[in-house]
Amino acid sequence: MDVVLIPGDGIGKEISESVKTVSDALKCDIKWIEYKAGADYYASDNKLMEDGLLEEIARCHIALKGPTATPIGTGFRSINVYLRQNFNTYANVRPVSTFEGVASRYEDVDLVIIRENTEDLYKGIEDMLDEDTAHGLKIITRQASERIIRYAFEYARKNGRKKVTCVHKANIMKLTDGLFLDCFTKISKEYPDIMNDSVIIDALCMKLVSDPCQYDVLVAPNLYGDIISDLCAGLVGGLGFAPSANIGDNVRIYEAVHGSAPDIAGKGIANPSAILLALAMLLKDNGMSDKASVLEKAIRDCIKDGIKTKDVGGNCSTAEFTAAIRERIENEAL
Ligand code: NAI
Repeated sequence: MDVVLIPGDGIGKEISESVKTVSDALKCDIKWIEYKAGADYYASDNKLMEDGLLEEIARCHIALKGPTATPIGTGFRSINVYLRQNFNTYANVRPVSTFEGVASRYEDVDLVIIRENTEDLYKGIEDMLDEDTAHGLKIITRQASERIIRYAFEYARKNGRKKVTCVHKANIMKLTDGLFLDCFTKISKEYPDIMNDSVIIDALCMKLVSDPCQYDVLVAPNLYGDIISDLCAGLVGGLGFAPSANIGDNVRIYEAVHGSAPDIAGKGIANPSAILLALAMLLKDNGMSDKASVLEKAIRDCIKDGIKTKDVGGNCSTAEFTAAIRERIENEAL
């Protein structure tokens, strides 16, 4: 299977090496096709991505992407947003669960955030009305809302999940979030086997922090989904363990939730777990569930045994942690 690998910026290059090491150990039938994209590439070539990248993703249908940096306030647009919109990867799936051995406030968090990925304020429709007034458009369509909500219920059914919760702020944004909630109310009736409820985004933040175990699958418009997935990652010990998948009808792009971590880039101490868990999602979605389970177990066992990177209280380098995972994989009968 051909899969495009975009190492990206900052720690992206270090954690992509872990991906290649681990997929070799798993004896995955994957041929990695590497492409450059991101701020570093922009700095050297004045282009956001290498020529041919988009065509190659369209051909392979699957990519694994490292983090790419985006300048704040000015400069080029986010490559992530560009790829999501270009390939219409409308669903962003972010599972969040507790890892034994990682200090966190809760022990049994196991939830999935399904974020609408193509519209809302991320359409990037902004302008200056006058020099003191900026203006941005929040776009919510029935078509995209129904698609993501149906995806969430189908995901729940397929993965043995019991409840889908709709996240909104329809009390204030009566038309935009009101439309999203209306679609949820209608579509939930098609899934009588799955429980459903809805919650206002601010109340959800409080409830997630005080009792995250009451949630199972959360479906949200783009911006709320983005924010709550970082909040949830914090509940289980940080961004180091948060993978995500951008799902479209023809293309799937897997990645870590975290960014390029410029503060630790090049030091060899990045935690590769999130991108490795994204690799596990990729394997599972492509008929390699057994290898995905071996990989996830190897990561969990290492952490439980205290083999950890610095961000979660350990003293392993990226390479040492990766080698320990490789060893555990090689000890399994594949
Ligand atoms: P960040 O996620 O890169 O870093 C936040 C903090 O978490 C830093 O202290 C960093 O050292 C730490 N951290 C993140 N990942 C880690 C890992 N794997 N191991 C150990 N520590 C880790 O977020 P920040 O600083 O806001 O963004 C940096 C750049 O990344 C920005 O240019 C931003 O646009 C970009 N970014 C890209 C994303 C993507 O490509 N999917 C997602 C989020 C941010």
